[in-house]
Order: sequence, then C-alpha cells, then structure tokens
Amino acid sequence: MTALITGGTKGIGAAIVQILLENGIDIHINARNLKDLQAQHSELTNTYADRSITFSSNDLATKEGVQSLIEDFSAEHKTIDILVNNAGVFYPGKTSEEDAGTLESMIETNLYSAYYLTRGLLPMIKQSKAGHIFNMCSIASKIAYPNGGSYSISKFALLGYTKVLREELKEEGIKVTAIMPGATWSNSWAGVDLPESRLMAARDIAISVWSAIQMSPAAVVEDITIRPQLGDL
Ligand SMILES: NC(=O)c1ccc[n+]([C@@H]2O[C@H](COP(=O)([O-])OP(=O)(O)OC[C@H]3O[C@@H](n4cnc5c(N)ncnc54)[C@H](OP(=O)(O)O)[C@@H]3O)[C@@H](O)[C@H]2O)c1
Repeated sequence: MTALITGGTKGIGAAIVQILLENGIDIHINARNLKDLQAQHSELTNTYADRSITFSSNDLATKEGVQSLIEDFSAEHKTIDILVNNAGVFYPGKTSEEDAGTLESMIETNLYSAYYLTRGLLPMIKQSKAGHIFNMCSIASKIAYPNGGSYSISKFALLGYTKVLREELKEEGIKVTAIMPGATWSNSWAGVDLPESRLMAARDIAISVWSAIQMSPAAVVEDITIRPQLGDL
C-alpha cells in the first residue's frame, strides 16, 4: 500500500508517517521546507531501507503548489491507497482583531489544500482496492473557543468538506475519516507554559489513524474525537 501525507515532516504528520512505515506502507511526504524533508528522508531510509519513501516540497496554500504535488507524486507512484490531508497552520486570535487576510490564509492552507489535492488524486484513489482519505480536522471543527478565530472557521469548513466527501464516495468503496484532535504536543504549542504531559502526544493521533485503516471494507470510522485526559485547554 502507498500513502501520501501532507505536512509530514513535523508533529502529527511526522507521527503518522512513522506509524505507517512501521506497518509496511510506502510513503510520500510533503511539506514546504526542503531541508526538513531531506533530513527526515535520510533518517527514515536508514531505518526502513526496504520501503519506498519519497518526498516533495510544495506549498499547498496555492493551487499551483497542490498541482505540483500531484505531479511529483504521480512521477514516483502509480497508485495511492491512503491520503492524509494533514498540512495546516494555526494563527490564534479573535476574528474582530486579527490582521486582514488571516481568514484567507487559513482557508487556503487548511481547507483548499485538502479540497484541491483530493480532487486531483481521486481518479488514482478510485483505482485502489482500499482507498482511504483522512482529513485532519480539530476539536475546533466542533466547538468555537476563545482565541480560536479564523482557525476555527477553517476547521469547521474542513469538517463540512469531509462530510460531503464521505457521502460522495460511499458507493465507490472509498473511506473518508475526519480526525478531530484536541491539544497535541507539536510546534503549534512551542513556548506554551504547560508540561508536555498535559497535552496528547502526536503518536496518539497516529494510533487512531492506523486503527481506522485496519478495519474491514465493511466498516468506516467516520470521525474520531480525541482529547487530552484533563480536557481542552
Ligand atoms: N497540534 C494540535 O494541538 C492540533 C490539534 C488539532 C488539530 N491539529 C491539526 O493537525 C495538523 C498538524 O498540526 P501540527 O500541530 O502537527 O502542526 P506542525 O507541527 O506545525 O506541522 C505542520 C506541518 O504542515 C506543514 N505545512 C504547513 N503549511 C504548509 C503548506 N502551506 N504547504 C505544505 N505543508 C505545510 C509543515 O511543514 P513546512 O512548514 O515545512 O511546510 C509541517 O510539516 C494541522 O492541520 C492542525 O491544524 C493540530
């Protein structure tokens, strides 16, 4: 099986890359920063020498970047079974106070990236016997919270897209899953004055993805909500 993980160099994306490789899946990793991609690639190929691990640097906030990822991926792989739309950015703030353009920026990275990438890869995904699309939503897809601002709007929209996609692909045998994590230790939380143990580990989110992949063709996990044991922050 082959998987494409967007935003796969750090945090939750990197943990998903890791768990899929552990379980014998070939991987294509996307992010923007080429040095991060190269460093991760040389580390992973040392550990998983028998696996096909490819990567490409593409900015998914633009349609051109999404198109270049589709071309880079297709040049390396003829099939895709698992697509994880994970790339995302989080700029906290209030909608009434944030800089103009903040909403557009997060809609582009958090929603349009998944929308255009999925559309572009669907013909290939439809050829798979085990097509599965994951969209990395958030607790902020379900509830508004102080300082969530436009991030929450973009994640509500991504959950809406995920539900639409699920209905559209039901008869095609393609599974669609929304993952809705609460606070998870990653770069997004850099500098926060809290012990790491108060947040979930990125590995916890990756475990939920892997568990959904393992189900029989008769079952689809439509959504997964995962919170820190002590609740939201
Ligand atoms: N951490 C949390 O508490 C939490 C909770 C709920 C949901 N989420 C969601 O989970 C996903 C991953 O979050 P994270 O906390 O693991 O983030 P992270 O550690 O900041 O990593 C984000 C990843 O996305 C890539 N990326 C960002 N913008 C991109 C773009 N325009 N094009 C391509 N790649 C891009 C980054 O690499 P480059 O910078 O090199 O591009 C990086 O690999 C996001 O969608 C986030 O909204 C996170």
